[in-house]
Amino acid sequence: MPQEVRIFDDAPALAEAAARFVIDAAQAAVAQHGRFHWVLSGGGTPRELYATLARPEFSKDMPWTQVYIYFGDERCVPPDHEDSNYRMTQDAMLRHVPIPPDHVLRFRTEAEPAVAAREYEEAVRASAPRDADNRPVVDLTLLGVGKDGHTASLFPGTPIMNEQQRLAAEVYVDKLQAWRVSLTLPVFHHARAALVLAAGESKADVVYEALHTEAGAELPIRQAEPRNGEVSWYLDRTAGARLGEEG
Ligand code: 6PG
Repeated sequence: MPQEVRIFDDAPALAEAAARFVIDAAQAAVAQHGRFHWVLSGGGTPRELYATLARPEFSKDMPWTQVYIYFGDERCVPPDHEDSNYRMTQDAMLRHVPIPPDHVLRFRTEAEPAVAAREYEEAVRASAPRDADNRPVVDLTLLGVGKDGHTASLFPGTPIMNEQQRLAAEVYVDKLQAWRVSLTLPVFHHARAALVLAAGESKADVVYEALHTEAGAELPIRQAEPRNGEVSWYLDRTAGARLGEEG
């Protein structure tokens, strides 16, 4: 369950507050262990956050040379495809900030899904810090949420939800008629913190279900919470519209 749920008037206010959250997390991580390992979300919601972080008044406060970027998931399309999360994050943020290119870990979606997932797992193992049980520990996972409660490419009822060994896996999403590659729950579980972003009236029901119903605990967005980390939900007013209702 989140320790913090904040509602902002509109998308720009949400994006600026989320940008400040990320900057604070990055500065704390660098102060603590010299790097900031950050898992990005794809989809549409975080785009404005990324563009905000690329604005000079925000970008100047990010320790970009110590930032290491991972992708929570990726569509199995070329990196320059309009549906690519990699392309979206490059266009909105990464191409506009002084992050060393080799700090951005991209799923190699030119390969078959299973190969891309296996390569990504090896890259995550080589790049992310490890805990005492040799499990990767990232500093922050940024999570979006779909109307069905999915996050990254952890869709309800798909086999990837049961993956407890691999750090990344391929998943065929029937409803999308498409392959995806995604980090798995073990990575999300061992993160130090998570920030969930949701905006728009289409998310009001899933936000209510996830945060105000018993069944909500089974949704992937709740299943992907860090086991021992802080969870924050940042919403705009329309996505949080039902939270005032009696649970
Ligand atoms: C993706 C994301 C996915 C996304 C949700 C919400 O690759 O699409 O990782 O999990 O966060 O589908 O998407 P929107 O922000 O576009 O509503």
